[in-house]
Amino acid sequence: MQKQRASNVTAEGLLVGMGVTANCNLNCKHCYSLPLRGQNLTLSQVLKVAQTKNINSINFGTGESFCHPEFSEMVDKCYEMGIKMSLTSNGYSIIGLADEQLRKFNDLDISLDFIGKSKQNSFRNGQSQELVDQAIEKCKRLGIEFSITAVLMNINYKGIPQLLKKVAEEGCNLRVNVFKPVPKAGIYKYRLSFEEFWEAVYLLFTHGNLISCSEPIVNAMLDIPSTVPKSPCGSNSIRIHPNGTVSPCVYLTDSHVHIDHIEDSFEAAIDTETFKRMATVPEFCQTCEKIDACGGGCASRRHLNGGLDKPDEYCPPYRQKEIPEIEVTKCRKAKDLVHSSYLCTMIFEGKKTDGKEI
Ligand SMILES: C[S@@+](CC[C@H](N)C(=O)[O-])C[C@H]1O[C@@H](n2cnc3c(N)ncnc32)[C@H](O)[C@@H]1O
Ligand code: SF4
Ligand code: SF4
Repeated sequence: MQKQRASNVTAEGLLVGMGVTANCNLNCKHCYSLPLRGQNLTLSQVLKVAQTKNINSINFGTGESFCHPEFSEMVDKCYEMGIKMSLTSNGYSIIGLADEQLRKFNDLDISLDFIGKSKQNSFRNGQSQELVDQAIEKCKRLGIEFSITAVLMNINYKGIPQLLKKVAEEGCNLRVNVFKPVPKAGIYKYRLSFEEFWEAVYLLFTHGNLISCSEPIVNAMLDIPSTVPKSPCGSNSIRIHPNGTVSPCVYLTDSHVHIDHIEDSFEAAIDTETFKRMATVPEFCQTCEKIDACGGGCASRRHLNGGLDKPDEYCPPYRQKEIPEIEVTKCRKAKDLVHSSYLCTMIFEGKKTDGKEI
């Protein structure tokens, strides 16, 4: 029998992923928002979310937020309401917002998946590298904390050392999200195999110092204590999709909960089956000694991979493989980044290489 664990919303409150728009100035080959193009939240829907009880912070993502004509106003209003904010951008929104608006964010994420302009621009189908360069310069000029965000795919994971070298040079962090399939757009081909996933993790820990990790299977296998055990999606964090539906994760778009039906808190939403199913612990995991740290692994990866009743596809015991031996070096300075405990993600700083080639 599968079991469901309890929600772990903390006293600090919910982290909200807000997709104000699914529209974008680019057209990346892997993007989960491609099937949602044309959808937008209204200003009043965004403010309604900001006013609900127990909100910790809002991260703007899904599409490219500045493509929403009222995005500047949304930022100003959320800031006035005392909401801690972050933004994930391909550079366009960071360039478009005024300096004083950008200063309202706790931290910013700029997406870069390849070192090399031609690869980056061809993958993102546009002038992505130019936008990234300008956004980095602007963050540095304004002294705003920022991370470079890369999606780990089978076509770029070998470039992790170069990405970590780049962040060390820029004085920022590297956040990595593992690629997830997008069934509605038929995008599967960038998925990492079991071996590629663990090689990517090895490269990250060899060339980087860990700032935070909320990938449950990595925490469980490498014995990394996590402030948010198990999958944070749906318990610690929620997503508002550009069509107004509320779900535990960007990869779960079949939710029946809608922002227009929310009253003054998300408590009732989190109590629905849409959310509670994220806490399903597979039968295989019931006797695992890592269960408290892992809970079965990333719930959305399991959902996309054929069912929440199966463990994470990157689980070594499940795949009957050796547990990888990887040395964990932590970053000395603690950092308060909105993304640290908001989805299954890993954040690193680059190790200093003393100018040596990687
Ligand atoms: C959807 S984008 C929205 C924000 C902005 N347009 C950008 O590209 O950063 C947010 C992040 O999700 C990543 N992403 C998009 N599709 C993905 C997928 N299928 N699997 C994993 N990450 C994905 C993007 O690369 C980006 O870093
Ligand atoms: S820039 Fe972001 S939202 Fe736009 S297509 Fe690429 S990943 Fe998707
Ligand atoms: S068996 Fe389940 S709980 Fe244990 S490490 Fe694997 S996925 Fe996680």
